[in-house]
Amino acid sequence: MKKEKEFQDKTALITGAGSGIGRETALEFSGLGTNVVVSDIDETAGKETVKMLTKAGGDALFVKADVTRSEEVKKMVGESVEKFGGLDFAVNNAGVLSAEARTGDYPEEDWRRLIDINLTGVFLCMKYELQQMAKQSSGVIINTASIAGIAGFPKNSAYAASKHGVVGLTKSAAIEYAQRNSHQRCLPGIHLDANGRNSDETSTGTGGGA
Ligand SMILES: NC(=O)c1ccc[n+]([C@@H]2O[C@H](COP(=O)([O-])OP(=O)(O)OC[C@H]3O[C@@H](n4cnc5c(N)ncnc54)[C@H](O)[C@@H]3O)[C@@H](O)[C@H]2O)c1
Repeated sequence: MKKEKEFQDKTALITGAGSGIGRETALEFSGLGTNVVVSDIDETAGKETVKMLTKAGGDALFVKADVTRSEEVKKMVGESVEKFGGLDFAVNNAGVLSAEARTGDYPEEDWRRLIDINLTGVFLCMKYELQQMAKQSSGVIINTASIAGIAGFPKNSAYAASKHGVVGLTKSAAIEYAQRNSHQRCLPGIHLDANGRNSDETSTGTGGGA
């Protein structure tokens, strides 16, 4: 009951919510009574998630956004606040895998694209979400990292580098905003304390897979 109260009538923005972990996260939030902003680069998939949420009685909005494009990310946060009046939770989840090759053979174009989506995309989302959360003096940000954010991932060095980057980005912002009632988390298995210290570095917690 207490748990539900924390989520009821709040607003969660989830990127990459058109499928997989993002869609499941959207369903979980919605089931707790949270308004959900479903964002994805794939309009058909994102609208399908919204349909699933509204069919189950939830309130949801689709906003198409490519997380690599600053102006689209800014608009995504703006539309979320306009529709639901604030931003309580943000799950920066959009991410991709790319070419499988040893680092010496890794295609530069794939490297740049992956870092752009998985790392710069999370930075851009945090930038605008934190601006809004600072205005509210509240908010929680969850960035989807990976076990590859704390361990090597052979033939996927770009992915591992991007996810290690997400962990560092999350830790840094957690320290910056620790006094402002705003919290950042990395998934899976990385829990930051109020000073941005990793309180459970070795745990794979909820983690597994890439
Ligand atoms: N599936 C796993 O085992 C696993 C394990 C650890 C971490 N992760 C991470 O979890 C996250 C989600 O993974 P998933 O398995 O659900 O993947 P998925 O492919 O099912 O979903 C990713 C979503 O991101 C969207 N997307 C891709 N590029 C985008 C962009 N530029 N802008 C906005 N949206 C974009 C896709 O359209 C898709 O709907 C990723 O960050 C991934 O790295 C996944």
